[in-house]
Amino acid sequence: MLLEATVNNRPVSLEIEPRAILLDVLRDHLGLTGAKRSCDTQVCGACTVLLDGSPVSACCTLAYEAGGRTVETIEGLAGPDGLHPIQQAFVDRVAIQCGFCTPGFVLTTKALLAENPCPTRSEIADFLGGNLCRCTGYWNILDAVEDAARRLAAAPTSSQGPSS
Ligand code: FES
Ligand code: FES
Repeated sequence: MLLEATVNNRPVSLEIEPRAILLDVLRDHLGLTGAKRSCDTQVCGACTVLLDGSPVSACCTLAYEAGGRTVETIEGLAGPDGLHPIQQAFVDRVAIQCGFCTPGFVLTTKALLAENPCPTRSEIADFLGGNLCRCTGYWNILDAVEDAARRLAAAPTSSQGPSS
């Protein structure tokens, strides 16, 4: 079947198997390997991408469900001026160790701050509850999300990446 979608602000049209998994299509057909496969059972959030702005586990989403919709992966965040403010906050707050979970955390943070630009620490922890990290201990991640919220509040829209 034909899948037509917008991926990272670009139109995509490709033939897929009806049972194709979104994560496989992104990684194997489009070369977007930022979303990671870890648990493969919708538990860890390493495969998170944004579908029409909402976080989904790409490991458990059929690719055809993306038809006619927008998909955003970590590769779509940085703009011509550099990293997206959320990415930069994660770097500056050392919210990354191995980095395997980081694309999912960053994209979930983007969705959170789009609907709640000034979340409390407990709201951040709740929203990120579906993203697991084995390395950081989470405190630096919470710090990074608070920092990202401040940066986005202060930044002009043009510096927030191509699809903020
Ligand atoms: S790999 Fe998809 S939720 Fe863990
Ligand atoms: S930084 Fe290693 S799993 Fe999160």
